[in-house]
Amino acid sequence: MFNFVQAQKFKDAVTFVPNKTEPIHNWFYYKEGFSKQLADFFIKQFNLTNTSLVFDPFMGTGTTLLSCKQQSISSIGIDVNPLLVFVSKVKTTDYDLVSLEEIVKKAGSWKFERPKDIPKDPFYKKAFSRFSLEDMVFLRNKIGEIEKPEEREFLLLALIDSAVKGSYTYKDGAVLKIFKNPRPPVRKLFKNKIHRMLKDLQRNPLPKAIAKAEDGDARSLQLKDEIVDAVITSPPYLNKIEYTKVYRLENSLLGLNSQPMLPSHIGSKAERTIEGLESLPIAAQTYFADMSLVLAELHRVCKPSAQLAVVVGGGCFPTQAVNADEILASTAEKTGFNVESILVARNSWCTRARTIKVGQIRESIIILRKP
Ligand SMILES: C[S@@+](CC[C@H](N)C(=O)[O-])C[C@H]1O[C@@H](n2cnc3c(N)ncnc32)[C@H](O)[C@@H]1O
Repeated sequence: MFNFVQAQKFKDAVTFVPNKTEPIHNWFYYKEGFSKQLADFFIKQFNLTNTSLVFDPFMGTGTTLLSCKQQSISSIGIDVNPLLVFVSKVKTTDYDLVSLEEIVKKAGSWKFERPKDIPKDPFYKKAFSRFSLEDMVFLRNKIGEIEKPEEREFLLLALIDSAVKGSYTYKDGAVLKIFKNPRPPVRKLFKNKIHRMLKDLQRNPLPKAIAKAEDGDARSLQLKDEIVDAVITSPPYLNKIEYTKVYRLENSLLGLNSQPMLPSHIGSKAERTIEGLESLPIAAQTYFADMSLVLAELHRVCKPSAQLAVVVGGGCFPTQAVNADEILASTAEKTGFNVESILVARNSWCTRARTIKVGQIRESIIILRKP
């Protein structure tokens, strides 16, 4: 029924991997993100210019916002996860580079003093060597003394990345695990990171285009009607709720709690369902019910002729494979969008007990237009 197009050329671009070598985009590794290359492709495809406004309702680490800003295009993004809003903000802020260079120089030569306020939480004892924990607390205290909020946050992001890399923790799916192998000192990681981040900004100065990164829920937007020219986004994939517990270390450095799950995360509540999908697992019904609210909101805020690229992934359930692209495309159509095509970037198998094939799922990009 829909125009499915095999588009394996996007198979890497729908992942975060290409961002690993992209200045600024690589300041924070985010497994669920997509790449600058993907955002750039649709910026070009949709003929966006410096008079356009792009919106990303599932901003994550701000790949869409930063890619737009790099091309002088204004953008707005929201996310329910405050850690990711913080990361997106730091990556898209307009810094005073002269002042930032001074701060980075100063921070690079801070003279270490053993901190007295080492946290008693047994998690920290497990997560760090004594030296790394002392480094982390010392640096966090010093950063707290920095006057300008944007410079404080710049250094804090560097510390978050360095603390994670210098800790014994690693993320294994939804679980944070501890593996006591030798780690580089946090102090050294931090020093390298701040110099690299500064260099990124000096070599690739960001144009002054608006990039507004805010907390928000994609199911009820705080935006006015018909102001958005294009949407480049990727909602959480079906059956892949993000457990914020794995960001415990990052969150604690920001003073945030790590709830097991964010209450307004798409698909996290079990009470809403959608007609015609009763045969699907409850988790899938909830996901599509939430996404129908999002699509209705996107329809409201988009200008006529606005174009949307929505990267989605199917979900594996014990008894069936559910392809999100087709169901979301028909919901979008019912909401009033035209479905121009579904670009299939990847196919993969769902298996049970490791070997029994349950069905195939797709990772695709749904291309929509508001008539
Ligand atoms: C696949 S990730 C997006 C990644 C992003 N494209 C990037 O490159 O970093 C999906 C994001 O949706 C966010 N999210 C989940 N439920 C949401 C909701 N109700 N409103 C807004 N954001 C939500 C998650 O926190 C996550 O950051």
